[in-house]
Amino acid sequence: MDSQCPAPFPAGFADTVRSQFPLLQQNPDLVYLDSAASSQKPQYVLDTEQAFYTSSYANVHRGSYALASAATEAFENARTAVAAFLNVASDEIVFTRGTTEAINLVAHSWGSTLRPGDEILVSTLEHHANIVPWQLLAQRSGAVIRPIPLDQAGQIDLAAFHSLLGPRTRLLAITQAANATGTRPPLAAMIAAAHAAGALVLVDGAQGVAHGKPDLAALGADFYAFSGHKLFGPTGIGVLFGRRDLLAHMPPWQGGGEMIASVSFAGSSFAAPPQRFEAGTPPIAQAVGLAAALRWLGTLDADALAAHEAFLHSRLEHGLQQLRGVRILAGNTPRAPITALHFDKAHAFDVAQLLDARQIAVRVGQHCAQPLLAHFGISSSLRISLAAYNTPDDVDRCLAALDETLDILA
Ligand SMILES: Cc1ncc(COP(=O)(O)O)c(C=O)c1O
Repeated sequence: MDSQCPAPFPAGFADTVRSQFPLLQQNPDLVYLDSAASSQKPQYVLDTEQAFYTSSYANVHRGSYALASAATEAFENARTAVAAFLNVASDEIVFTRGTTEAINLVAHSWGSTLRPGDEILVSTLEHHANIVPWQLLAQRSGAVIRPIPLDQAGQIDLAAFHSLLGPRTRLLAITQAANATGTRPPLAAMIAAAHAAGALVLVDGAQGVAHGKPDLAALGADFYAFSGHKLFGPTGIGVLFGRRDLLAHMPPWQGGGEMIASVSFAGSSFAAPPQRFEAGTPPIAQAVGLAAALRWLGTLDADALAAHEAFLHSRLEHGLQQLRGVRILAGNTPRAPITALHFDKAHAFDVAQLLDARQIAVRVGQHCAQPLLAHFGISSSLRISLAAYNTPDDVDRCLAALDETLDILA
């Protein structure tokens, strides 16, 4: 089923990495700086998914014939691969459509135990996917959302966070890295404090997962969610990690085939996790593709990758500091390789349009993070996000184009 997985890269690998991405090869003049929205896909992932469809494809967990067994094995091997990647057990991994669905699963299932007056702490760094499901839960249950404010730098206000923790706190919902600014909150300290207060913690790993392998056993989060498409994998596949003892007591949130133990009109009983939370035909080929993405990622030297991203990020920000009228949002907080910009004299949309005319793809707008932008008193920003396949030339072209653009718009 697998095509050949490339060998580990030597140092100085930016061009080698880039050469693995057909879209970038076919568009040599494209500077893709929107990986925080979705990453491009290496040939290996595309080949593996296609090979699965052409050699091993059938529905999973239901057929008794050899092909169905092969498909089921590939799907369950993908679960094992995700579990190994996160350093947790396979039965703690639920496949979802993405981060959004994973968080909604927790809000519906675990959230059904909440009572009026229970409190959910949600940070101001969050993507709407880690805000709105909790608001909907609050409407259903009478629970209360307590927003965790930020300090002037755009980092979590730890004193305020501590003062919000109390006997009614049931959950802390916190990102590993903010998609709109890249800010990494002090997760370890926040998780320890939430646990000490008797609350659970859900970490939104959608951005964090792409910039360093998470060790959930060490992190100690109770729930962790991420999307395959931001990690060089396919769309339509995401992951919810849930602690085994929590999943065991959580009710199903969607009903259908595969999530049951037995069904009669007198009533139904449900499968054990993770199947209890995977009603219907799952994203089978996408799971196989995600496992391929993890294997592909495993061929990169993790230290070299981190150094490469840090180098590009500091080259970018050093260059930005030379430009007049450009503000880096949360520039003094520890961050993933994401840079959000606000311009004194130009509108972010106009800048992005002129960059697009120069084949430089960046994200502009509210980034599904309106509370975070409101904290900075702005309604839109321009975001540059970096990934393994970006090169120093990408950064330099972006800087030169920004310089030119800001001159035009001045
Ligand atoms: C921090 C964060 N959380 C959640 C999401 C939602 O991810 P998805 O749309 O893949 O469900 C995103 C997507 O940009 C994100 O950046």
